[in-house]
Amino acid sequence: MCGITGYIGSKEAVPILMSGLKKLEYRGYDSAGIAVLKDNKIKIVKCKGKVAKLENLLEKGAPKGNIGLGHTRWATHGRPNNINAHPHNGCNSEVVVVHNGIIENYTSLRERLISEGHNFVSETDTEVFPHLIESNYQDDLTLAVKKSIKEIEGSYAIGVISTRDPGKVVASRCGSPLIIGIGEGEMFLASDIPALLSYTNRVIFLEEREIATITKDGVEIIDSEGKILQKEVINIDWDEEMTEKSGYKHFMLKEIFQETMVIRNNLEDRINLSTKTLELNDLFLPLDKIKEIERISILACGSSYYTALAGKYIFEELTGIPVEVDYSSEFRYRKILLGKKDLTILISQSGETADTIAALRACREAGSYILALTNVRGSTISREADSVMYIKAGPEIGVATTKAFVGQLMCLYILSLYFAQVRETLDSSEINKIISELIKIPQMVEIILLKDPEIIKLSEEFHKYHNFLYLGRGINYPIALEGALKLKEISYIHAEGYPAGEMKHGPIALLDKTFPVVVIVPRDKVYAKVINNIKEVKARDTLVLAIATEGDKEIINIVDKVFYIPKTSDILYPILSVIPLQLFAYHIADRLGCDVDKPRNLAKSVTVE
Ligand code: F6R
Repeated sequence: MCGITGYIGSKEAVPILMSGLKKLEYRGYDSAGIAVLKDNKIKIVKCKGKVAKLENLLEKGAPKGNIGLGHTRWATHGRPNNINAHPHNGCNSEVVVVHNGIIENYTSLRERLISEGHNFVSETDTEVFPHLIESNYQDDLTLAVKKSIKEIEGSYAIGVISTRDPGKVVASRCGSPLIIGIGEGEMFLASDIPALLSYTNRVIFLEEREIATITKDGVEIIDSEGKILQKEVINIDWDEEMTEKSGYKHFMLKEIFQETMVIRNNLEDRINLSTKTLELNDLFLPLDKIKEIERISILACGSSYYTALAGKYIFEELTGIPVEVDYSSEFRYRKILLGKKDLTILISQSGETADTIAALRACREAGSYILALTNVRGSTISREADSVMYIKAGPEIGVATTKAFVGQLMCLYILSLYFAQVRETLDSSEINKIISELIKIPQMVEIILLKDPEIIKLSEEFHKYHNFLYLGRGINYPIALEGALKLKEISYIHAEGYPAGEMKHGPIALLDKTFPVVVIVPRDKVYAKVINNIKEVKARDTLVLAIATEGDKEIINIVDKVFYIPKTSDILYPILSVIPLQLFAYHIADRLGCDVDKPRNLAKSVTVE
């Protein structure tokens, strides 16, 4: 939520700040702004709307200077408008701040600062920051920031510049991510890695309440008590091309077409092809730990929660370990009944989702071992977990997750097979059989992607409807939920996911010829049951699109439209069935003219509660 960029060096700051903001727009896009410091003056340009609108404004005359801050906003306090857009300044335009997060005690701070004579102009919580820093300023910006963050309750990542102390950018974070990029004679600041990749691969991740004083020649980082810290510089193995659309109309489409690669990345180095065994050398989870686990809890938000639900089916089937799944946002406020024999798995593409971070910390306090599945090296979750398994999807820019979802599923398959191998819950021939199927999945995904024109045709037929019901059963039920979420979040069409067997307990009342049903019905052990459910739907004159197994001739006589996916093991169908649903949502949204990569009201990393 909200993206921050910062630059200090000898080049013009604005183009660098803007190129970073374009890469961070997935974090929020209801207003944008930049501030540039030159000759003891700070110039701010900001507006309601996307980064492209700010770019148009800047074409008429961008402020010159080599030090600056940028911001793209996802509104929390105060509606999106020109005044509430960041950067915000104090009374005399001497202290300017960009902020990502929520200041929970802003009302009391604001009242106090107003009583001290400060003049507020916006409805935002952020505006207390520049006023507070201004009031705490004596002769050093870093010290003023250090004093100010002690008074702040809530979450923040901030970049600060000041005419009073002009040769630096000061940054700090608590709860929201912030990264420093290291260049030659220039330094960068950003909320996330993609914003830095055009300039550097060398980064430092700021930790909670650390304060960085960035000059063009380097950075000094202190903790909240002022102690100087030696921080590790990390080399990021992503490149700039990974953050471009590469000829695709949208990032989302590019990312769906990258799924074959994501699956291969996940298999590589983890499966020994000659012995068909698993070798998880990148997972620092002790074997003794795996053997003593009595229960697994999987926690996540949004789509990652749906992969967690699929994970329950996968783990219970392959390892026999009971699995509980919860939304991080619900879990964190319940009584936590975890102990040393529990394994908690946190799933988060970004590694920065605020509720999942809070759940992680609650599990840590309860004494549970924590394994994170995440895409982002250096993210908060990757740093705070006991072990990390990377989902190897590369940067995901489209706000609606696609390739990371597939990467998460792959990790869950590989991890549960590995547990089955270590705990000997499956014999080697059974493990061999699933691995043999798993390594065929990339080719099968390629076959599905080649059939994209079929989905384009289906989108033509279905895009006029205003409501959809998605049904699935067993391990495909979470995929029905994901299919419905994809459609609603990018096309704004109402869609609900439901377990097919539960439909007659309520949702069937909605069905008529205006309410199509999308049903996942592979040839698995619940096939006959789902066919019965489809017949109940068809008896209500409802249009049905089925995702079925290649070669299933029976289905075409029952439903209106079929999209075939290749035949695989029952347990592996989700990784194939989700792809046509992602493409279906994409093509409907695109046909309706929606801004697929930046759906309204959404942000990719939900770094606020
Ligand atoms: C939906 C989507 C979101 C995320 C959710 C969790 O397409 O992308 O529902 O899955 O915000 O994000 P992470 O996985 O980064 O914790």
